[in-house]
Amino acid sequence: MSNRRDFFRYTLVAAAGAALTGCVQNNDKAIPQSSNPASVKGRPVVIATWNNLIATETAMKKLTEGGSALDAAEAGARIPEADPNDVSVGYGGLPDRDGNVTLDACVMDDKGNSGAVCFLKNIKHPVSVARKVMENTPHNMICGSGALEFALSQGFIEEDLLTEGSRKAWQEWLKEKKYQPVINIERHDTIGILAMDKDGRLSGACTTSGLSYKMSGRIGDSPIIGAGLFVDNEIGAACATGLGELVTQTLGSFLIVELMRMGYSPQAACEEAVNRIIRRAEAAGVTDYQAGFLALDKNGEHGAFSVVQGFNYALYQNNKNIVLEAGHKL
Ligand code: GLY
Repeated sequence: MSNRRDFFRYTLVAAAGAALTGCVQNNDKAIPQSSNPASVKGRPVVIATWNNLIATETAMKKLTEGGSALDAAEAGARIPEADPNDVSVGYGGLPDRDGNVTLDACVMDDKGNSGAVCFLKNIKHPVSVARKVMENTPHNMICGSGALEFALSQGFIEEDLLTEGSRKAWQEWLKEKKYQPVINIERHDTIGILAMDKDGRLSGACTTSGLSYKMSGRIGDSPIIGAGLFVDNEIGAACATGLGELVTQTLGSFLIVELMRMGYSPQAACEEAVNRIIRRAEAAGVTDYQAGFLALDKNGEHGAFSVVQGFNYALYQNNKNIVLEAGHKL
């Protein structure tokens, strides 16, 4: 694979003229290239799905205090997990159809290590349990009662994750029991967060309560490495938000990193992943859905794209912490 990367590196140098136009040729196919290939070593970056400015600020603070990219991603993800007003992550997340809040999360570091939990109940910070899975077990993913047992053994405490608001919303839903997730509700869905430290080391985290009123035991893309999150420190990282079934079926985050390996810019890679989602949705007859991706490459360049309008993201880079609207296909 490194030969392939070298091939593209050489192609870039040899085809400087083509690079000026933003494209190189590979087997007659134009590959959209990064527009800013300057190295940003020494300049940390944090990017997160949705308008989670406090999450990116918290993550950047970790980095500036000397924490690792993994410390930063975890710290950022814990912000919406603890926020009772965030209805799709952690405490206050809308429950499944039986009234249980069940959480999925994963982390991945610069060395390719990963950990995940899914169908975890009564623990406010699944992202931190996922990190413990990575660091303290020989496994990648633990689910359900096993994940809870493991969390308790690591010192986490059990809490009721239903708030008054989420309980009321569920009781209201019970009246009709109509399974119809609302797209792009405020701060909707998963938080995926990617961080790069000053030495260019990348890590990420992804955490969610999943689709509201889902079937008991349903797992989405968020805890699945390659679907909700993927990090390859030589190339870049990506994370996803939106309808987990489609993201999983297209392995969106892994796809984006592999496209960047082939020479796609982070933006072009996100757009191609969205194209695949749309084709999959059409084939499956799925309508009225959202899926969005973020990508961050080794140069600190980012990409963001979604299926429909309404996906925004927080970016902390060059001492600025801002919310940006992602482009969309439909
Ligand atoms: N993207 C979150 C989920 O589908 O569970």
